[in-house]
Amino acid sequence: MEPNRIAVSCRGLTKSYGTGDAQTLALRGIDLSIRYGELLMLVGPSGSGKTTLLSIIAGILDQDAGQCVVLDHDSRTMDATERARFRGRSIGFVFQTFNLLPSLTVVENVAVPLLINGTPRKTAAKRARGMLDAFDLGGRAKALPTQLSGGQQQRVAIARALIHAPKLIVCDEPTSNLDHTAGHHVMELLRREAQVPDRALVVVTHDSRIFEFADRIAHMDDGRIVEVTNGTTQEATPQ
Ligand SMILES: Nc1ncnc2c1ncn2[C@@H]1O[C@H](COP(=O)(O)OP(=O)(O)OP(=O)(O)O)[C@@H](O)[C@H]1O
Ligand SMILES: [Mg+2]
Repeated sequence: MEPNRIAVSCRGLTKSYGTGDAQTLALRGIDLSIRYGELLMLVGPSGSGKTTLLSIIAGILDQDAGQCVVLDHDSRTMDATERARFRGRSIGFVFQTFNLLPSLTVVENVAVPLLINGTPRKTAAKRARGMLDAFDLGGRAKALPTQLSGGQQQRVAIARALIHAPKLIVCDEPTSNLDHTAGHHVMELLRREAQVPDRALVVVTHDSRIFEFADRIAHMDDGRIVEVTNGTTQEATPQ
């Protein structure tokens, strides 16, 4: 693999919600590149545009202007079927609100991305159980999401995002419901996933306790990236 190959390239991204007086400019021109093998964190105040940017990178929201190329794909050149297939195969999401399917058990939730990609049911369930073990949830495989604590639901959502070994993993506040120990455990798992060649991770967080896991941190404010620093040393680096 070429060193420093680019997994995600955003250029001049803008996004607004609503119209007229009710219009909110959520992104005001975002330039950002994420390399393969990199764990990039997006940080910034509430409302600064982190989830909006993550949603565009993940292909679940369209920008108004600018370009976003993800794993050599520009979603604007793909039709709805191609987009869905690309997302299903190549991207793992952890949503801020988990989005677990309430009528499926924990193990069934985790197996969903494999089933979507055509893995036989038995193989999918076996791999899902293995992933749950890695997240200390083996004993809760048959529970429904509503029977779990917030932290447990969060870990199920992360297990589901990783199960099909996607090349890009995007996580919105993955440690917000976890205590220090569980948060570190999850970040160690995510960090390990990011170090697989040909893979990249983007993590939105408010949680300064996990900054040490980042390769770089992009600081957002009012729809802009105002600074990019190194995760551990906090030195400024080029965008
Ligand atoms: N669906 C929507 N409709 C209208 N405005 C929206 C919508 N989603 C987000 N916004 C607005 O866009 C701006 C950016 O929101 P976004 O959710 O991206 O922020 P955030 O940085 O993720 O915040 P938080 O840390 O609270 O999750 C905010 O002003 C928000 O009110
Ligand atoms: Mg958000």
